[in-house]
Amino acid sequence: MLHILSHPLGSHCITHLRDQTTKPALFRTLAYQISLLLALEATRDLPTRTLAVQTPLEPVASPVLDQPLVVVPILRAGLGMVQPFTDLFPDVSVGYIGLERDHATAVARSYYCKLPALHGRRILVVDPMLATGGSAVQALTVIKERGGRELRLVCIVSSPEGVAAVEQAHPDVPIYTAAHDRELNSRKYILPGLGDFGDRLYGT
Ligand code: PRP
Ligand code: URA
Repeated sequence: MLHILSHPLGSHCITHLRDQTTKPALFRTLAYQISLLLALEATRDLPTRTLAVQTPLEPVASPVLDQPLVVVPILRAGLGMVQPFTDLFPDVSVGYIGLERDHATAVARSYYCKLPALHGRRILVVDPMLATGGSAVQALTVIKERGGRELRLVCIVSSPEGVAAVEQAHPDVPIYTAAHDRELNSRKYILPGLGDFGDRLYGT
């Protein structure tokens, strides 16, 4: 259930996101571009229904989207991935889950949760870094407890440990990633990775 993005623009964006000399303004643009590609991948199988329309020349039965979408960024870094989803799907509802890893233990602490109606909707949880998987597993659990059923996890860089943790806790949730990296270091950062995504996104 791991989908790895395969697109030359995606590889280009990842390289410049990794580059430690990339400044926050460019970092945000690259995060937008790569998240847009991921948004397209993660919605490739959205259901459609047929709508009868009249072209200037003749009537035609043609597909339109048939399932409401919810995007849920995990604060704060996940905010850097939201805009492509709202640009592509203007009717999307946005929920927020605030989780922050403790710097010493790397265990995520919950500090905020605001979710829209979830029933019958396709839910895309977005968080750029899937490291230990602790944050993603917690977020997916909360969403399921609130009635969310059809979930996808969309990240930019994943680790083998993070993917394994999500697959074990939530085997029904497909994972979309732009880069699947080698391993975690002793501080639970992804290698080669790109460092602290939130800090680089917001210049903190
Ligand atoms: C980062 C990242 C993920 C989490 C991943 O957030 O955005 O949410 O770490 O790590 P995990 O898979 O080991 O849980 P962080 O906790 O640093 O907070 P931030 O987004 O506010 O920077
Ligand atoms: N969070 C980040 O921002 N980067 C990592 O490598 C791991 C967790």
